[in-house]
Amino acid sequence: MELMEAIQNRRSVRKFSDYYVTDEEIKEIIDAARRAPSWANTQVWEFIVVREQELVKRVTETYSESNPARQCSMAASVIIVACAKTDISGCRDGKDRTKFHEWFMFDLGLAVQNLCLKVHELGLGTVIVGSINHEACGKLLLLPGGHEVIVALPIGKPADTGEKRIPPRKELKTFVHLNKFGEHYGKIY
Ligand SMILES: Cc1cc2nc3c(=O)[nH]c(=O)nc-3n(C[C@H](O)[C@H](O)[C@H](O)COP(=O)(O)O)c2cc1C
Repeated sequence: MELMEAIQNRRSVRKFSDYYVTDEEIKEIIDAARRAPSWANTQVWEFIVVREQELVKRVTETYSESNPARQCSMAASVIIVACAKTDISGCRDGKDRTKFHEWFMFDLGLAVQNLCLKVHELGLGTVIVGSINHEACGKLLLLPGGHEVIVALPIGKPADTGEKRIPPRKELKTFVHLNKFGEHYGKIY
């Protein structure tokens, strides 16, 4: 699949058919995630592949009540919970290297985007779920100290819902600046 096609056509998918995602597909998806760049190549991600139906339900119950991803997650054949080791990325000897403490969030974002694009390339769909009770989810999955749950990713084959609406993106001219903030970059608008 061509890169720009994947970037443009990937969508958050919140309705799945009853297709069972295979272990081989899961392997390929996580293999794409692990190829992401990270702070000093620290690779602080940990992926918990939730396959047991009862546990899939219990993970879904940690989502915010009105979360639009609840229904598709409840019956998903897999939820990948993306977690991170803290205090490593962007840190040295326990000290932050910059004003930001949570570089692990950045690294996880890169890995999760790789994951989402691979899911799309395989003809599957997913949605990043961040509105979740992170503490409760971590407890449920026996996540050790020094780690955080970041997002959950239910994966399945997209059901044909007839939905063709594409969430709009801002125009370049509203957020691209030339040399200094607020200066227009007219040549590319
Ligand atoms: C960090 C993050 C957290 C998100 N959390 C949720 C969520 O809890 N529930 C949900 O249904 N979608 C969630 N989304 C999906 C966004 O709503 C979606 O990406 C956005 O509306 C753009 O749509 P698109 O992915 O189809 O381009 C999240 C996305 C990101 C990047």
